[in-house]
Amino acid sequence: MVYKKMAAPLWYYDERKNTGVDYTDSTIAAEYDAQHSKFRDFEKDAQLIINQLELKPEHTVIDFGCGTGAFAIPVARLCRKVYAVDVSQVMLNRCAEKAREAGLSNIETYGAGFLTYEHKETPVDAIISIFALHHLSDFWKAVALKRMYDMLKPGGKLYLFDVVFSFPVEVYQSELDNWVNGMREEAGQAMANETIIHIRDEYSTFDWVMDGMIERAGFKIEQKLSDFPQCLAYVNIRPHLPE
Ligand SMILES: C[S@@+](CC[C@H](N)C(=O)[O-])C[C@H]1O[C@@H](n2cnc3c(N)ncnc32)[C@H](O)[C@@H]1O
Repeated sequence: MVYKKMAAPLWYYDERKNTGVDYTDSTIAAEYDAQHSKFRDFEKDAQLIINQLELKPEHTVIDFGCGTGAFAIPVARLCRKVYAVDVSQVMLNRCAEKAREAGLSNIETYGAGFLTYEHKETPVDAIISIFALHHLSDFWKAVALKRMYDMLKPGGKLYLFDVVFSFPVEVYQSELDNWVNGMREEAGQAMANETIIHIRDEYSTFDWVMDGMIERAGFKIEQKLSDFPQCLAYVNIRPHLPE
C-alpha cells in the first residue's frame, strides 16, 4: 500500500490527538483496571477471546489499543509473542509494568496506533482490538481495518469488540439513556460520566455501517455477537485467496 510507505501527508489523521475520554491522563490510567472491573470480568473475557480465536502457543498476536494489557497479558501467557500497540504512553507503561510483574517477556509494547503502527515482522495469526476502534471516525476506521487485514496471515482472525449500536435509530434516545443509567447502577457515577463523554465526543457507529467496513476491508464476518444493543463482538477471518 502506497500510503504506508510514504511520509504521512498533511491530511493524514493525527490519531494521538485526544477525542473523548483522555487515556493520556495518568490518573485515568492508574484507575483504569479498578474502574473497568466494576462492569467487566477481564479473565473470563480473555478466555472467551482465546477460545474464539483458537489461539495456540506458536501464534503471534497484535493487540491494537491494548490499554493496560487486559487482553495482551492473558494472551501472552499462552502465545509466542504479543505486539501491544497503544497511542497512550501511560496506558502502555501500565501494561509493561503488569507484564513484568507477571514474569512475561514476550510482550513488545509500541507507542503507535491503528493508523501509524508498522508491523515489520511476518504477518500475525490473530489481531485483537477491544473498546478502541471507536476513537476513529468511520473513514479512518475503514483505513484501520484495511491496515489490520494487511498485517494478518491468510486464514488469520481479527477479534473486534467495540461500542457499536445495533438498535434502530428511531429509539436512540431511550437506548442511550438506558446505557448511561445502567452503567451508573453497575459501575458508579465516574463510569456513567465516561459513557456520556463516549456518546457525545467519540465515534461509535451502527452495526450495518461497521459490517460494511469490515467486509470491504476484505474480511469475512464469521461471528457477530451481542449481549446488549450498545456493544458488539465480531470474529472476522482474512480468507485464503483462491489458487
Ligand atoms: C477503553 S480503552 C481499551 C483498552 C483495552 N483494550 C481494554 O479492553 O481494556 C481504549 C484504548 O484505546 C487507545 N487508543 C485511542 N486511540 C487509539 C488509536 N488511534 N490507536 C490505538 N489505540 C488507541 C487509548 O489510548 C486506550 O488505551
